Amino acid sequence: MEIKSALVIFFSPTGATRKVVSSFVQGMNIDNIQIVNLNLSKERAKLKLTISSDILIIGLPVYGKRIPKFLYPFLTNIEGNNKPVVLITVYGNISPGWAMEELYVITRRRNLRAIALGKFIGEHSFSVSALPIAKGRPDQADLSEAKMFGKLTGEKLMAAQGIEDAELKLAKPLIVGNMITFLHAIFPQKSGNIFTKLPSINVNLCQMCGICVQSCPKQAIDRNDLSIRRDLCIRCFSCVKNCPSGAREIKFKKKIVVTWFLNKQGRFSKKPEYIL
Ligand SMILES: Cc1cc2nc3c(=O)[nH]c(=O)nc-3n(C[C@H](O)[C@H](O)[C@H](O)COP(=O)(O)O)c2cc1C
Ligand code: SF4
Ligand code: SF4
Repeated sequence: MEIKSALVIFFSPTGATRKVVSSFVQGMNIDNIQIVNLNLSKERAKLKLTISSDILIIGLPVYGKRIPKFLYPFLTNIEGNNKPVVLITVYGNISPGWAMEELYVITRRRNLRAIALGKFIGEHSFSVSALPIAKGRPDQADLSEAKMFGKLTGEKLMAAQGIEDAELKLAKPLIVGNMITFLHAIFPQKSGNIFTKLPSINVNLCQMCGICVQSCPKQAIDRNDLSIRRDLCIRCFSCVKNCPSGAREIKFKKKIVVTWFLNKQGRFSKKPEYIL
């Protein structure tokens, strides 16, 4: 199969997914690349996106063991045109959950054919100096792995006779993914709110630069008084990590329990995994 063009779709409030996807694309070595950055609400508003590129690459972070729920309207309206798709999920060294299975099923329903799946690790959005979780991930080794994954995917497609030949036909992700998409439709995604409070602000440190307002993917921060709308905030902590003066802070709820849980689950460094 000849692959000359790619459409890359990603969501990455704190930048880990973007880095992994970018290394993957470098490894695939395709010149003609278009990007849809789902951090931007105007991009998410592009419903009924029809895929005309030779391949689609989707990169999403894991939120509460699933994909971010508010991306459903965008993802469930893609028209895949039977094109090959690469799925990449990035998680914070706690658990990849069932986000990959969920994405596998959603993209299948949109007439996309999964040819490669990769689970990578990124610094946890809740990571702070007192509680570092996967600090500095993806590191050089992760990014080399992502690049190799891209190279092998390119080689696989080159050798394939057609999409039937390249497609992964996976029974287990199909069963699990169908269950998760069903449950996801019923249950709210609240893990961020269970663990953390709304990002706080120290007015003495704030320079009113507005960077947090611009970096918020949900447009939850008021431009004038910098207050945050509780109903919109998804606790992605892009505003905290992008604040140049350290004026915003992540605060945990039930600190002892949350610290114990995150420490226990995230203690051992996990490794990227992929299948082709
Ligand atoms: C609300 C929320 C829920 C999360 N849930 C999980 C999880 O279930 N498992 C995990 O390992 N990491 C979890 N994470 C961490 C992110 O998956 C991880 O930090 C990822 O690298 C973020 O990607 P980004 O830097 O591209 O935004 C969660 C992060 C947020 C904000
Ligand atoms: S206000 Fe909430 S949604 Fe917006 S960047 Fe901060 S944590 Fe993310
Ligand atoms: S990014 Fe930081 S310094 Fe800039 S307006 Fe937001 S809180 Fe203030």
